[in-house]
Amino acid sequence: MLTGCDVERRKSDAELGLNPQQASGRRVFDYYCARCHEPYSSKDLQGPSLQHMFKKQYLPSGLPANDDRVTEVVQYGKTHMPAFGNVLTPQQIKDLLAYLHTL
Ligand code: HEC
Repeated sequence: MLTGCDVERRKSDAELGLNPQQASGRRVFDYYCARCHEPYSSKDLQGPSLQHMFKKQYLPSGLPANDDRVTEVVQYGKTHMPAFGNVLTPQQIKDLLAYLHTL
């Protein structure tokens, strides 16, 4: 995924100050979301950057940035985003949300 001019080193969970739940959420994110969403850069990939997503009032679509709305997006997907309701367990979604709050 790293290209010539984008050689930022990947930070460890400890460097990011992640607790165990957030760290397992990060693994879910890396596996299922990272190919389409940047967590630590404002660059858009296939989907919009999710940097600071819960620090903002609204998601890119204009929905309020809160746990309920984001859980729905993950469960049901969007126009160009696949649904993960049948892929992720409720616990994985909780861990994922905990991680997204650290972005
Ligand atoms: C195949 C690419 C793809 C994957 C994988 C993907 N997304 Fe998305 N995501 C998108 C696109 C594209 C959008 C923009 C809305 C649309 O057009 O569907 C989006 C939008 C979003 C939004 C903003 C929704 C809004 O209302 O503005 C959030 C939050 C989000 N994705 C989270 C995630 C999470 C968390 C995962 C991993 C479980 C994930 N996405 C996996 C492509 C993807």
